[in-house]
Amino acid sequence: MNMHSSEASTAEEAIAAQEALPPLTNEEATQVAMSNTLLTPRFYTTDFDEMDAIDVTPVRGEWDKLIAAMKADPNKGHFKKNADWDDVDWDGMEPALKAEFIDFLISSCTAEFSGCVLYKEMKRRGSNEDITTLFQLMARDEARHAGFINDALREAGIAVNLGFLTQAKKYTYFRPKFIYYATYLSEKIGYARYITIYRHLEEHPDKRFHPIFKWFREWCNDEFSHGEAFALLLKTDPNLTESRMNKLWIKFFLTAVYSTMWVRDHQRPEFHKALGVDPAWYGQEVFRKTSEISRQVFPMTLDIDHPRWIPQLNKMQAANVQIAAGRKQGGFGGWAKRMVGSAKAGMAFISLLTIPVEKNAVPDSPRLEPAY
Ligand SMILES: [Fe+2]
Ligand SMILES: [Fe+2]
Repeated sequence: MNMHSSEASTAEEAIAAQEALPPLTNEEATQVAMSNTLLTPRFYTTDFDEMDAIDVTPVRGEWDKLIAAMKADPNKGHFKKNADWDDVDWDGMEPALKAEFIDFLISSCTAEFSGCVLYKEMKRRGSNEDITTLFQLMARDEARHAGFINDALREAGIAVNLGFLTQAKKYTYFRPKFIYYATYLSEKIGYARYITIYRHLEEHPDKRFHPIFKWFREWCNDEFSHGEAFALLLKTDPNLTESRMNKLWIKFFLTAVYSTMWVRDHQRPEFHKALGVDPAWYGQEVFRKTSEISRQVFPMTLDIDHPRWIPQLNKMQAANVQIAAGRKQGGFGGWAKRMVGSAKAGMAFISLLTIPVEKNAVPDSPRLEPAY
């Protein structure tokens, strides 16, 4: 038998292991993964030469320790079904829940794989050994994560065609510094999301309607160390977090990442009901953890207890419902609905963006350990 993606030492091996499994493709799932809207996970490309030129000397001690820990590979073989994987009754699942859960899995698989393709490309293009080593280790982890979600999807007769996606999905260009802000945040918010669900289900095991959630603790530790790596990269150049302009960018990315998560999660009411999780509670809990962690490197946190915060997030959510309805309706009426919805979403975003931040004194050493 071929190697399983969880045992792979490189992203390439993990993808090949996934591609060797039947069914090779599912048009519908791959189409969902291919879609590019503000709310679906995208693939990114960047100026790889600029990233290759990063000098990690200012953080050398911590860098070497982190890389050694990632090379030791404590999660090798973890992302694989074993005796803990209970039978899933896909046919008996409430249809609305099944649809939302499959959508959640496809979107998570795409997001994991988005990290993989970016990191893998950096490894392929770079010549700076520190940087290529890091990116190859992170690509390895993300390919295993995506592969594992695909294993779960396969049981429902679906799989995302990862090889096809790499070739065919549109890539969005981001300057390296935007990649650092966005990727640092998405790794840390990923950690906070996985651990919050894991801890919640530890307390309410009856709500664990699918075995994949049992894997979330080790999973989130991978995301945590990826976030640590980006925190160190951000530390190599003080200008990235200290200049006036970059502080504005950081605020922009914090607001964009948090509000996107809020809107996306509120699109899956049945999924959250099945988990026994109120999406508003979950959102705030994840923002709180992410903000606390991001104090390691960002000079500010968003004021998520501000009186405008939740009302404007809700307005943004309502505007997105309107945009989706317009898209479905089509024609001139649908177009008008979309335009009005987009204007409302834009206003809500500006309102969120103008909430004053809470300043933070960044510590000299950013390194943290998972604490939740
Ligand atoms: Fe991941
Ligand atoms: Fe990650």
